[in-house]
Amino acid sequence: MSLLELRAIKKTYLLGNSIFGKRKTVEAVKSVTLTLESGVCLGIVGESGSGKSTLGKIILGLEKPDQGEVLFQGKNLHSFKAKELKELRRNLQVVFQDCYSAVNPRLTIGEIIAEPLRNYERLTSSEEQKQVQGLLELVGLNPEDMYRYPSQFSGGQLQRINIARAIALKPKLIILDEAVSALDALVQVQILNLLAQLKEEFQLSYLFISHDLQAVNYIADRLAVMCKGEVVEWLDDMGQLERLEHPVSKKLLSSVLPQYPGFL
Ligand SMILES: Nc1ncnc2c1ncn2[C@@H]1O[C@H](COP(=O)(O)OP(=O)(O)OP(=O)(O)O)[C@@H](O)[C@H]1O
Ligand SMILES: [Mg+2]
Repeated sequence: MSLLELRAIKKTYLLGNSIFGKRKTVEAVKSVTLTLESGVCLGIVGESGSGKSTLGKIILGLEKPDQGEVLFQGKNLHSFKAKELKELRRNLQVVFQDCYSAVNPRLTIGEIIAEPLRNYERLTSSEEQKQVQGLLELVGLNPEDMYRYPSQFSGGQLQRINIARAIALKPKLIILDEAVSALDALVQVQILNLLAQLKEEFQLSYLFISHDLQAVNYIADRLAVMCKGEVVEWLDDMGQLERLEHPVSKKLLSSVLPQYPGFL
């Protein structure tokens, strides 16, 4: 059984207001079917507006698809009862691009990382402190950082804090939506290395969404290329990047392989 399965997912947004005639629509996701196996990092690439984040939001339950099914461990998300939904939220975490808006600036780092633990586990304050400090060390930060505030950290450090919070409950799947895109190249590589190491250590699965095939190539095991709301190409093995054929894939490839210098 796959960890995650999307079956013919469709999502259309209505634009503008409806006072004058028919409202315009945008088909953000047209008919996406894909599977993600446990322990695998599936990269989703595509140009801006191709529907990547919409897909992530549908999996997270932040958007409802017009059609299609999302199955987590073989079970349709929409049939989940309250208790199962709570368990699902434990197993499904997310890290977004904007590391600053993902944290409450008035909370200490300790409180930010402890939030999921407080929601799901009954820990004494010393147990909680130990876990938070362990998580900080896991993501390459100092245990003493738990007493500091978000404004005292760089973007890369803050993204490490967001990752620490995302792995606090040892989830099965983390959706990383442009999680390294705002960072400079060196910090990107450091965070990608950290993600790869955590994936091995805790047998995590990732849905790694990015417009940057180079970053995806660094971490993903499999690849789905999206264009205009559809998955237009799929690779089971990242070693076969050169086999990609779709014009969008080739355009994205030009950033990874020097032998693909131009677009079309
Ligand atoms: N809430 C919304 N209301 C209306 N249209 C939306 C909404 N969210 C997304 N869209 C539209 O749906 C399409 C897909 O958007 P989406 O954010 O999924 O793309 P993306 O691939 O994540 O792009 P990017 O790489 O820029 O993040 C776009 O045309 C976008 O304008
Ligand atoms: Mg997006």
